[in-house]
Amino acid sequence: MKKAFLFLSALLAAALPAMADEGMWLPSLISQRIGDMQAKGFRLTAEDVYSVNQASLKDAVVLFGGGCTGELVSDEGLLLTNHHCGYSYIQRHSSVEHDYLKDGFWAMNRDEELPNKGLTVSFLDHMDEVTDLVLKGYEPGMTEAQRDSVVKVNSDRLVRESTDPDKGLKANVEALFYGNRYYLFVFRVYRDVRLVGAPPSSIGKFGGDTDNWMWPRHTGDFSIFRVYADKDNNPADYSPDNVPYRPRKFFKISRKGVQEGDFTFVYGCPGSTQEYVMSDQVRYVAEQSDPQKIALRTQRLDIQKKYMSASQAVRIQYSSKNASVANAWKKWQGEEKGIRRMRTVASKLAYEQRFREWARGTRYEGIVDELGEIYARRNPTYLAYEYYNEAVRTIELLSFASAVQSRLRAGTPTEDLIDSFYKDYYQPIDEETFVAMMTSFDRNVPERFKPDWFREQLAKYGSVAAWKDDLYAHSLFIDREKVAALRSVDEVAGDPAIEMYDAFLAWYRKDLYPVIQETGAALRVANRTYMQGQMDFEPQRDFYPDANLTLRIAYGQVKGYSPYDGAYYYPVSTLKGIIEKDNPDIFDYNIPQVLRDIYAQGGHDGQPVCFLATNHTTGGNSGSPVINADGDLIGINFDRVWEGTMSDIAFNPDICRNISLDIRYLLFVVDQVGHASYLFDEMSFAD
Ligand code: ARG
Ligand code: GLU
Repeated sequence: MKKAFLFLSALLAAALPAMADEGMWLPSLISQRIGDMQAKGFRLTAEDVYSVNQASLKDAVVLFGGGCTGELVSDEGLLLTNHHCGYSYIQRHSSVEHDYLKDGFWAMNRDEELPNKGLTVSFLDHMDEVTDLVLKGYEPGMTEAQRDSVVKVNSDRLVRESTDPDKGLKANVEALFYGNRYYLFVFRVYRDVRLVGAPPSSIGKFGGDTDNWMWPRHTGDFSIFRVYADKDNNPADYSPDNVPYRPRKFFKISRKGVQEGDFTFVYGCPGSTQEYVMSDQVRYVAEQSDPQKIALRTQRLDIQKKYMSASQAVRIQYSSKNASVANAWKKWQGEEKGIRRMRTVASKLAYEQRFREWARGTRYEGIVDELGEIYARRNPTYLAYEYYNEAVRTIELLSFASAVQSRLRAGTPTEDLIDSFYKDYYQPIDEETFVAMMTSFDRNVPERFKPDWFREQLAKYGSVAAWKDDLYAHSLFIDREKVAALRSVDEVAGDPAIEMYDAFLAWYRKDLYPVIQETGAALRVANRTYMQGQMDFEPQRDFYPDANLTLRIAYGQVKGYSPYDGAYYYPVSTLKGIIEKDNPDIFDYNIPQVLRDIYAQGGHDGQPVCFLATNHTTGGNSGSPVINADGDLIGINFDRVWEGTMSDIAFNPDICRNISLDIRYLLFVVDQVGHASYLFDEMSFAD
C-alpha cells in the first residue's frame, strides 16, 4: 500500500511542472499561470489580474510603508492592512490620555481621521521586462565591474525616463533570478495616508507572541487607513484640502465565507526568499546561523521578560522591541526545524549530483563546486558578522551613542533622538544584556575572529561584569541631561560607549568586511550562473524569481495540515476559540470586556476569525488581500505557521500554510466593537 502510494506520488510529482501551490509569480507573466489557476477554480482572466490597458486587480493592491501590503476596498480610498503593519503609526498617535494601542481608534467621520507623517503607499503603474535594455552594451568577456557599470548606466536612464515627481511616479529596476533578468517597476506613490480605525491590541494583537507564527490562531490583525490625493487624484503632501483618492479598482468584499478546498489567491509584496541556493548555504542557515541567533535572542528575551513582568512601565517600554526580537527568534526556530524535517540539505545534495552530471561539458561544469568553495571561504567570517549584529549592535547604549555622535558631527538637532531613546530605555535591561552578549561573544566567537581591543578589555577588567560596571558608570550617555547639553562632537570623544562602538566597527571594517565584500561579489556571479544553469537543466519546470518586495501572486486553497504525528489542524478558527483562550491573568489572552459581553448575548459561537491556506507567502505579504475564485476579498494575510517557515528556502505543500484574518471578523469588530459600521456604506459587497 505504502509503496504503491509512494510510486504514485513520484509519478505525479514528475508530471507536474511546478509543485502544487509553490510559487510567487510575476503579475505581468500571469498569462503563463492562468490556465493552472482556472483549472484550480479561478474564474477570472489574466487581464482581470494584471493589465496596463484596463483597470485590474493590481490597481487595488499597494506596498504599504516600507514592508507591508495593503488593499483598497472603496472608491474613496479606504485601505485595509494588518494591525501590526499600522502599529507604529497607531503608537505615534497614542498617549496616556488617548491610548489607541490599548483601546483602539475609530474615526467617526473623515475629519477625525489622523494623518501619518512619512507613511506612503505605492501603486504599481506597470512593470516591464527590460533585460535587453539593461544589458545593452554588455559583451561577453567584460569584467564584472564593467558589467556592473553597463547595468547601472542603462538602469539609471530607464529610471529617469519613467520618473515624474509631479505625478508621483517613481521607478526602480530590479534584478530577478540573480541578474539573469531585469524588470522595470513604475509606481505611483501617495503620501497622504490617514488612520481610520484600529481595534484594541487585545483584539488586533490577541495571542501576542505566545500565538505568533502558530495555529490555532485568533488574532484580529487589521487596521484601516484612507489614501488622499489632490483634486486631480494625484499624489500630494498632506493638506486639509486633499480629497479621498479614487482608485482605478477596489476589491468587493465577499461574506460567503471559506470552505476547505476553496481556491485562494494572495496578491502582495513578499520581501525575501532564497529558493535556489545550494546545499551549503541551506546547511549554514539551519546548522549555524539560525541556532546561533536563536541562542543569543533567547538570552535577550529572558532578560526583557524578567523586568517586563516586574513592572508595568517597563512592559510598555519594551513591548515593541520585545515583539520584534521575539518575531524572528520564533521564525528561525521553525525554519531550522523545518529544514531538518524536510531533509532539505540531503535533497539539495542529490539535486546537485544530478546537476553536476548533466553539466559536464557545458558552461555550468564546476559551478556547484565553485559555489561550495566561496561559501567555505565566506561562512566563518559571515557567522562572526552575524554575531556582531546580534550581540554587539543590540546593546542599546552603544547604538544610541553612535547615533548622537553622527548627529553632532552633522550639526543636526538631537532632541527627537534623545526623546525617543529615553522614553523606551530601561538601563538594567541594557546592562544585563551587555553582560550576556559579551560573555557569549567571548565564549562562542572563535579566537581568530576576536578583536584585539575586546581581549584587552577583558584583561584590563578581569571580567565582563567589571567591564560593564565601569562602562555604565562612566559613559555620559546614561544621563539624559548631559546628552541634551552636548554641543560639539568633540565632547563625546573618549566616551567609553563611543570607544566600544568604534572599536568593534573598526574590527568589522578591517577583519570582516573585506571577506564579506569579496565573497559577496563572487557569489553574485556564481549564483547568476547557477540560476541560469538550473533553468537550463530543467527546461520543463516553471521557475519563479525569489521574492524581493515586488508585487507577486501566490495561489492555493484553504486547507488544514498535520503539524506533527497524530494531530490535524482544521483550517478555520472562530470566536468560540477566543473565549476558550480568554484569561484576564494572561496579558496575551486578556480580551476586552466588550467582546465577553457580546459573546454572552449568544449566537456568536460560529463567528469566523482566521483561516489557513496553502499560499506561498513570506514577510512583506502581511496585509495582503486574500481573494476568492471570483476575485473578491475574503481575508487579509498576516502570518504563516511556524512548522512551515522554511518555505523561504524550501516549500513543502504538506505543511506550509499562510494564516489570514477572515474578512467577516473585520466586519464584526468594526460594527460591534468600533460602532463604525458607517464605513460599510462605502464598501461594496459581492454577496
Ligand atoms: N509573525 C508575523 C510577521 O512576521 C506577525 C508579527 C507581529 N506580531 C508579533 N506578535 N510580534 O510579521
Ligand atoms: N507577519 C509577516 C509580515 O509582516 C508575514 C508572515 C510571513 O509570512 O513571514 O509580513
